[in-house]
Amino acid sequence: MSRQILVTSALPYANGPIHLGHLLEYIQTDIWVRFQKMRGHNCIYVCADDAHGTPIMLKAQQLGITPEQMIAEVARDHQADFAEFLIEFDNYHSTHSPENEQLACLIYSRLKAAGHIHSRTIEQLFDPDKQMFLPDRFVKGDCPRCGAADQNGDNCEVCGATYSPTDLKNPRSMLSGATPVMKASEHFFFDLPAFRDLLRDWTRSGAVQAETANKMDEWLGGELQQWDISRDAPYFGFRIPGADDKYFYVWLDAPIGYLASFKNLCEHKGLDFDAFWAPGSNAEVHHFIGKDITYFHCLFWPAMLEGAGFRKPTKVNAHGYVTVNGAKMSKSRGTFIKARTYLDHLQPEYLRYYYAAKLNSGIEDLDLNLTDFAQRVNADLVGKLVNIASRTSGFIHKFFDGKLAATLPQPELLAEFQQAAESIADAYENREFGRAIRDIMALADKANAYIAEQAPWAMVKNDETRASAHGVCSLALNLFRVLMVYLSPVLPATKAKTEALLNCQLDWASAQQPLLDHAINPFEPMLARIEPEKIAAMVEASTENLQPTAAAPVATPATDAPAANNTGIEAIAPTISFDDFAKLDLRVARVVKAEMVPEANKLLRLELDIGLETRQVFAGIKSAYTPEQLEGRLVVMVANLAPRKMKFGMSEGMVIAAGPGGKDIFVLSPDSGATPGMRIM
Ligand code: MSP
Ligand code: ZN
Repeated sequence: MSRQILVTSALPYANGPIHLGHLLEYIQTDIWVRFQKMRGHNCIYVCADDAHGTPIMLKAQQLGITPEQMIAEVARDHQADFAEFLIEFDNYHSTHSPENEQLACLIYSRLKAAGHIHSRTIEQLFDPDKQMFLPDRFVKGDCPRCGAADQNGDNCEVCGATYSPTDLKNPRSMLSGATPVMKASEHFFFDLPAFRDLLRDWTRSGAVQAETANKMDEWLGGELQQWDISRDAPYFGFRIPGADDKYFYVWLDAPIGYLASFKNLCEHKGLDFDAFWAPGSNAEVHHFIGKDITYFHCLFWPAMLEGAGFRKPTKVNAHGYVTVNGAKMSKSRGTFIKARTYLDHLQPEYLRYYYAAKLNSGIEDLDLNLTDFAQRVNADLVGKLVNIASRTSGFIHKFFDGKLAATLPQPELLAEFQQAAESIADAYENREFGRAIRDIMALADKANAYIAEQAPWAMVKNDETRASAHGVCSLALNLFRVLMVYLSPVLPATKAKTEALLNCQLDWASAQQPLLDHAINPFEPMLARIEPEKIAAMVEASTENLQPTAAAPVATPATDAPAANNTGIEAIAPTISFDDFAKLDLRVARVVKAEMVPEANKLLRLELDIGLETRQVFAGIKSAYTPEQLEGRLVVMVANLAPRKMKFGMSEGMVIAAGPGGKDIFVLSPDSGATPGMRIM
């Protein structure tokens, strides 16, 4: 039975580029959608840019362009990035669209008519210079509990207190530096508490993962707040009908963007919108989201849909956060990697494969360890998978007229591969992609073992055994074909190359039909190895010196980096234990030689004498020092940092420096009297 399935990924904010963290979600969703399509279901994947809100309005102001101009540019970039990562939307729209305005107004008016919207006057901090109300993260001041200076509007990073921005002592606006004043205004609230029972039932209907259900029980067991869905002008969003200069809060119209994008597709394709969205519809609706936005998708969203007379989602699938090399993505470490920077150096399918191999249906974070990434992709995709085709297809052309044999020598081996279809399908269906990949690679090992044991390259050498090589290579290519059917959702480009090579289409059912007595095409390269230098170059291109922006008049919080604060300065990394700290070996080192690295914009090559030995270190301090200024000087180095292979050679440690970047980088030289090799810590 063919299912009707509508799928969405969260709508990325239109004020920044797509990065490797976002891509986990779009790749996960795309794999699931391609799998459903291959199985013959009517699966439709829609998305859009999330274009409204204060940060977008302010960023456009800062750039001196209109928000419309900015979101148009970002929309182009986002879609180009997605396309190159082989993420295939059926429609990509914008929340700043006529469909979305119409649907947001419709939903609001239905909620209002049903008595789910209340209005109330509240007092908030207002910037008298900018003449606007200040969102929490645009206010800073002293912590009301411990008095620490320069704390955010909602919590203190020093003592951990949480509070409202009106509690801050000496508050100031991050936009103008002015002291905010209290100002009253009327706001509209959505009556979330009225939906408590409905949400309890929905949670238990199997719509969310176990971890999410637990979280929801906690939320639903506690006090639910009325949700403030209005904002005062100036704001970039939709005007609330029937109100004076009030706008829908961005999170009100953002999920409605799912409906709007689908509606836009329906209009172009003549599809039936209501068949998917009317209550009682037997179509499925699946949302893929990051765990940080669960509250919006599992409380507000189903309640809004119910209150406005639409069906609720079949499933909300949350995933964890991407870390890189075990830590939060970081601009200074070069691990905040943009989609575009990745594409400048590496193939998209490497990342699709690595994420698939590590994904499961849970919400744990997923670490992109760059060393493991290269090793795994090279071992699995190049060493195991493509290898099957590359070492057998040549013989078919050289000795057997480019045609596969009419019978296969070990049909039971092929049967074993074919029988795995349902269990692998089950893994994809349940978002256990890691299990699917493990099962597929275990089969790839068997195919390689078979080829190695038969050694067709030896068989073809003499006339009596040559004919057997035909069967062996034909079986191997049939095994390869089955593996590629199973991997098609993950590797769409390699799938297309396989179709060209084997001269046939790959759909899910085709795995069950062997290719016999069938002409194939010459082998063309499919997927090259990852060269570690490419990864080093990508990290180097992603490394930014930290620029202090606290003094800048307009600070725009990074909406894509959850722990970023409104100073533009990276938040403090997670606490480490004293034992972790004690592992550092910091030593005094003398720069015995310093020289330019012609191909690198930021790096100098240093030779450091640490008493016991000399180390080579590449340090990103070229903008601040000439080699002559450094030679002979004492610096502090981390002596026990794992050596790192860079494009230009090994870097065997790190020089400690401080400063905002550019010309202002200060190497931490020890006092005179220190000798190279002296351990500081
Ligand atoms: N605009 C909102 C979503 C509105 S949906 C109606 C938003 N945008 S976002 O650009 O910040 O994030 C888009 C998606 O990417 C979210 O699901 C978010 O969880 C996910 N990710 C952003 N950074 C991520 C990682 N580092 N790792 C994994 N997913 C991440 O939220
Ligand atoms: Zn405090």
